[in-house]
Amino acid sequence: MSPFRIFATVGLMIGFFWFVSYLITNHVVPDEVDPQMMASDITRPRAPAEARKIDNPIPVSETVIQEGKNLYSGKGNCFICHGKEGHGDGEAGTMMNIPPRDLTNAAFQRLRADGEIFWSIKVGVPQSGMFGYVPRMISEEEAWKIVHYIRTLTASD
Ligand code: HEC
Repeated sequence: MSPFRIFATVGLMIGFFWFVSYLITNHVVPDEVDPQMMASDITRPRAPAEARKIDNPIPVSETVIQEGKNLYSGKGNCFICHGKEGHGDGEAGTMMNIPPRDLTNAAFQRLRADGEIFWSIKVGVPQSGMFGYVPRMISEEEAWKIVHYIRTLTASD
């Protein structure tokens, strides 16, 4: 083989591998795989489909909403990340890679069923700072009371 042919073959091979890696990194791996992108997409459910079917077993009342608020602002520690008014602007929340949900967000209120909100509180949201709080910090009943309180937070898109 002439030196020129060896040179050309090696050059072609390098070019080929560069092209393949270019395809893989830029096109084949879709952007959705990026957890940050996934996190910011509010339309992606955080709970499995069956969670939508779970109804709040506690009847709503002023007392229950107040109890939910007290748990949110006290024992549950929710305000630390989600903020006093639920805008997702709590002190610890501002430092997080995946920001805590703005619970007053209209799209959030519209898209999530009570059962999904309950699920996130109980089990947490994987790969985020949202841990599961039942039974570590609060009971299931208390989590449902917080769901009632979250539903009262004013909607703003
Ligand atoms: C350490 C910070 C932190 C604390 C404390 C915390 N959260 Fe979260 N929360 C998050 C983060 C981060 C997310 C993830 C947002 C996402 O899924 O994009 C989240 C998401 C949520 C969601 C939305 C899930 C969805 O379906 O979109 C709800 C509801 C929620 N938290 C409620 C609570 C309640 C109630 C408490 C208290 C019992 C609480 N959180 C405490 C950080 C926190």
